[in-house]
Order: sequence, then C-alpha cells, then structure tokens
Amino acid sequence: GAVVLTVGLTACSSDNGAGVIDTVGTTDFVNPLAIPPLAESTLNAAGERVFDLTAQRGTSEFVPGVTTDTWGYNGSYLGPTLVAERGENVRINVANNLQEATSVHWHGMSLPAKMDGGPHQMVEPGAKWSPNFTIDQPAATLWYHPHPDGATEHQVEMGLAGLFLIQDDEEAALNLPRSYGVDDIPVVVQDRRFNAKGQFTSDVRGYIGPIGDQLLVNGTLAPYVDVTTEVVRLRLVNGSTARVYDFGLSDGRSFDLIGTDGGLLTEAASMDDIRLSPGERAEILVPLKPGETVKLQSTPPNLGTSAGAATRNAGDDTLDVLELRAADSLGSIGALSTTLANIEPLEKADASVDRSFTLNGYTINNRLMDMTRIDETVEAGATEVWTVDNAMPLPHNFHVHAVQFQVLRVGTKSPPAELSGWKDTIYLEPGVRYELIMQFSNYTDPNFPYMFHCHMLAHEDAGMMGQFVVVKPGEQAGTPPTAHDAS
Ligand code: C2O
Ligand code: CU
Repeated sequence: GAVVLTVGLTACSSDNGAGVIDTVGTTDFVNPLAIPPLAESTLNAAGERVFDLTAQRGTSEFVPGVTTDTWGYNGSYLGPTLVAERGENVRINVANNLQEATSVHWHGMSLPAKMDGGPHQMVEPGAKWSPNFTIDQPAATLWYHPHPDGATEHQVEMGLAGLFLIQDDEEAALNLPRSYGVDDIPVVVQDRRFNAKGQFTSDVRGYIGPIGDQLLVNGTLAPYVDVTTEVVRLRLVNGSTARVYDFGLSDGRSFDLIGTDGGLLTEAASMDDIRLSPGERAEILVPLKPGETVKLQSTPPNLGTSAGAATRNAGDDTLDVLELRAADSLGSIGALSTTLANIEPLEKADASVDRSFTLNGYTINNRLMDMTRIDETVEAGATEVWTVDNAMPLPHNFHVHAVQFQVLRVGTKSPPAELSGWKDTIYLEPGVRYELIMQFSNYTDPNFPYMFHCHMLAHEDAGMMGQFVVVKPGEQAGTPPTAHDAS
C-alpha cells in the first residue's frame, strides 16, 4: 500500500528552485514529545559515576504503520540523557553492537584527548571502550555523537546522538526551571527525509549537505508538549547534519536566552529569535499564559550570504518545530534569576599565540583532514586567539574540541548576547572575521589529537577538519597512531 509520510504536514512554500527542496511547512501537532530517558548510573569502588551506552540497530515508527530502520544508544533512536555534577569522575562503558566501527564523542567536554571519542578512538563492532574523566566545567547542555573519520553524517542521521547535562552548585542555587521533562525540556531538532519505503534518505543534498523535509524533535514527528508552569526552559540542540535554524515563537513573543553551548550567560538576555547551526545549543526561558498554545518555529535564518540556490536549502522556509500547550492553570516558581553565571572574560593581553583558520572549499588552511598529520601544537594552559574566516560565500561553521571559547569580535563588533558566553561551535557568516579566545586545559598528550572542524557533517566527512595536540611547554607534537586505538 501507499506509504503516507506527509502526515500532519502541509507544504507552505513553493518558492524553491528546480531540483532543490520541498518544504516542511506547517504541522498539525499530533504526537506527544518524547523525552529522552535519564541514563541510569552507579558509583563504582573507585568513586566513578558509571554509565552504560550501547550503540545498536533498531526500528522506529515515526509515522504510524511505517517502520524505519534507525540506530540508537540503549534503544532504537537517540540515546539516554547523561547527567553528572561538576567535580564528579565519570566512566562510560561504550559497547558497539553495530556492524561497523563507531566512536562516541563528548561534544563540548574538556577532557584528555584519549577520552574525547574522536576519530582516533574508534570502537570496532563487538568491541567496548570505557573512557573516564573528571567533569571540570560549568553547568551546561552538552551532547554526544559518533565521530568516525569520513562517516559521521550517516551515523548521526541514523539516530546516534544524546544529551550530556552538567550540573553545578552555582546553577543549582539559581531560581530556574530544572525539573527534567516537566519545566526543563530537551529539544533536539533534526531534519530528516524518508524514501517511499519509509527509510531515511539523504539523497536530496545541497551545498551544505542533506536537507530533510520533515522535522524530528527528540525523535518525535509533529510534536506537542503539555506545559504546566508559567515558564518553561527549553534546551535547544541543533542535532541536524546540515540545516541551520532560527528559532523563535510563532506569535513573535520574546524569550530569555539564559545559556549557550558551554553554560549559562552572565545575565538573561531578552530575544525574539536565535540562530543555531549544527552542533550549537541554547537554553531559553519561554513565558506562557494559562490555556494558550504557542509554537516554537524556525524562520529562514540569516546565513549572511545571498549566494543563491546553493544556500537556499540551508533552511529557507518557516518550519513548525514544537507546540507548547499550556494547562488551564499554571504553577509558578516565583521570580526567576536573571543574574546567572560568573564568566571571567579571557583577555587578549593574556594570549600567547594567535592562529588563523581560513575555511575554503572543504579545506581549512588549504588542507583536507589527514589522520596522520598534526596541524597545530598548543601548550597546556595557554590562552590563544583563534581568528576564523569563512572565505566562501557559502555557509560553514566551526567547532573546537576540548575547550569552550569566548568570542572577542564578530567582524568589527563586540559579540551579540547569543555569542557572549561560552561557546564551542559558531556559525561563520561569509566575509566576517570571528576572533575567538580560549584557554587550553592541562591535559597533555603529544600523540593523541583533538579536532577542529566544520560541524556541517557532510563537510566534516569531506575533510573539513584538522587536528591539534596539547603538549607540555617545549614538547614536540608526536605521531598519531595509525591503527584505531580505543584502549
Ligand atoms: Cu560535535 Cu567534532 O563534534
Ligand atoms: Cu562547512
């Protein structure tokens, strides 16, 4: 029989160039939003908080009666939400039940390079990997996903991704919504496209990669969520392989931005919309009135380029994302904190090294990724300024492992509120120079590199990635192991 995959979706725009993209459009919100379960953990004899994650194959029924092959951690799609406190030692027992090698990267985490889960920490089918590290950074919404060299897009598309939430005393002392799944809601947004057999397909590709015509939020198509409080905290995660969003509320109401990739802002910032490119996160507070509904939407993002058809499919439609349905009577949590985190500004005067990165084609500084080449050598503890230019009139972004950075300048300007806190991923408007400042940890290893790359996964897979090591002062970079080493 005919497979109907357009349930609840009506095209709302037909302004696409030939052979480009059908639109997602407006949605009848028919499905309750799935909330990823909190991962169970135990404390072992060494005092480590231990989690288990198994990458596995399964099936999902996004549309009733249609079975889609998907991958997940401990389930069929996405993975459980890991929660740990700053200062805790964690260990994650990763098992690979897939039929291909994978890795699990802790995006946004500062940790030793061997624990990073990048392309040098591959886990073969049937194998296990148990990274351990100490959480030493502020409360934040981090996430995890595979990172095999050249094959990340497909594994993420199949469903491998999950959240890693860090808590700390400063955040806990604030008056903010923090009941997970009740007034503190993860919103992992991914676009997908289904073929006639109900399977994911990434056949429709633009310059930035595959663009889906359906949106999944936490793996739910056409989702709504019942809200029982006057304010709801949404942890927005762009978990898409390529698409850029500009999130806002359907009636234009403003919301408070309270956090970015690496933690809370110093102060809540009132905004109407926020652009998020793949890998970026934002925590927002949305006010609601009893009995109303309001939609989280994405309007066409300002990509900073008008390069025509090649960029249209980066998200040129207004998309319905999630309907918030307020109950007739809403609980109050009182006056919310507006002064949030203490962020010590990193000073340019303290930076010992300046590096420049130019993104062009699928290269960074005219190089394609090479697993055997160390591109940059950083001394432990150093503060560095990284200047990043997107030399193409086309969208890219930039992600750095191991650190959270601060944005010093966007072109000639100071950063706007959404770039004023800790970031690990940043959208690069063409022709705009981004000046980032970061302080590297003291985890040294001359042989095991961290990555920097464009987080549009097709670009990353095509080689838009480089490697840096953090070494002791004066030490030389070594040689990355050629064989996969997940020990
Ligand atoms: Cu989210 Cu290098 O990755
Ligand atoms: Cu790119």
